[in-house]
Amino acid sequence: MNQKIIIEGGRKLKGEVTISGAKNAALKLMAAALILDDTCEIYNVPELTDVSTMAKLLQTLGAKVDYDKNEKKITINSENIDNVEAHYDFVSKMRASFIVLGSLLGRFHEAKVALPGGCSIGERRIDLHIKGLESLGAQIKIEGGYVIAKAKKLTGAKIYLDRPSVGATENILLAAVLAEGSTVLSNAAQEPEIIDLANFLNAMGADISGAGTSEIIINGVRQKDLKPLSYTTIPDRIEAGTYISAIMATRGKAIIRNIFPNHLSAVISKVIEMGGKISVLDPFSIEVACNGKPNAVNIVTQPYPGFPTDLQSPFISALAVAEGVSIVTENLYENRFRQMGELTRMGADVQQESNKAIIKGVRSLTGAQLIAPDLRAGVALIIAGLCADGVSEITDIHHVDRGYEKIIEKFSALGANIKRVDSEDNNIDAMINNMDETIF
Ligand code: UD1
Repeated sequence: MNQKIIIEGGRKLKGEVTISGAKNAALKLMAAALILDDTCEIYNVPELTDVSTMAKLLQTLGAKVDYDKNEKKITINSENIDNVEAHYDFVSKMRASFIVLGSLLGRFHEAKVALPGGCSIGERRIDLHIKGLESLGAQIKIEGGYVIAKAKKLTGAKIYLDRPSVGATENILLAAVLAEGSTVLSNAAQEPEIIDLANFLNAMGADISGAGTSEIIINGVRQKDLKPLSYTTIPDRIEAGTYISAIMATRGKAIIRNIFPNHLSAVISKVIEMGGKISVLDPFSIEVACNGKPNAVNIVTQPYPGFPTDLQSPFISALAVAEGVSIVTENLYENRFRQMGELTRMGADVQQESNKAIIKGVRSLTGAQLIAPDLRAGVALIIAGLCADGVSEITDIHHVDRGYEKIIEKFSALGANIKRVDSEDNNIDAMINNMDETIF
């Protein structure tokens, strides 16, 4: 049954919210577990549909996977992997599954992984993944919608990425762990999730240095050097930034717990520029307060440590009710303003010009019936609904469930009037079909 979210807006968010483990880190750690012919335990893994998709994919490869909801712990045993094919059903649901390519190739010297293709937010190429793996000695062909990779052996190499792609950095890192000799990866992505992956692999016995900088060095180790491990995923900086933007949009005041504030430096700077007040309460908690209308600001998305592309949509919702005109420039994806039409229906004054969104702040938004177009644009509509006058109904929320653990519970705890209900999918269609044809 499809579900929808109903929000009665206009309440300032107050109280506190605890941030879950990072989806985009946990998924990669799960894929990395394939390298180990033993058991690993990963803590702070959020209960999300993307995590369950990755768990199912690992199971089809022959891994034993167990998720303990109470402890938020996933246990993966990859001793008996007997299949190196990641089927299109998984990769089409979730692009992050493409990352098993590096692990499978590294350990088994062969892999067949469905091509992710484009997706709703943009073309999302994989040329850098392929070039990097070829530099390590893999022969790669693309056939029937699959990447088929084989290698007699993998040898460390000097690899330069034309752009600091997160996924390409991860795939190359994973394939290089068991390669012979050293790999030097230049212009690597520097996201905290890359550091988490490198720390996880090092805890397993890999020899990686420089993660978090633009040059990563991976000294190959042998399979027998790898050992079982227990590891805790970093907090989700994108989930944290989403709640921060919601507090700004509703002019609230709330505490965000279980975060690494330094992962949010670019976001915190923008919040201060918007007139928000940030107080660091302890090393893992901040308080965010917005007294009155936020100021308009310009945002330019960039690879880390720049402002994250995943957070521009939630921030556009806050800027839609800010004082003045904001310009948001999206530099990573071609199609990441998919909520703009829906925002206009709520009374926002927003306009897209190529990769820029021009947002003229209005006094208030009004609730409407809305469709979530993708994960981050979907959550942006929830935030717009939270600060709008009246009631909003948002359908297609399966997109949002991919990346936000217990979103209804968390916003409710912050004082929002929000609920999830089953939606009778084609209510209007059914009504139209049942109408007396003579009317027409
Ligand atoms: C990851 C995140 C995603 C985030 C993005 C950028 C996960 C599961 N997803 O995605 O939420 O928005 O990082 O922070 O971790 N590119 C190429 N060639 C390549 C690879 C990428 O041209 O071979 C381009 C892409 O088309 C895109 C840009 O580089 O325009 C960024 O992509 P990348 O950093 O690879 O993002 P993902 O790893 O897919």
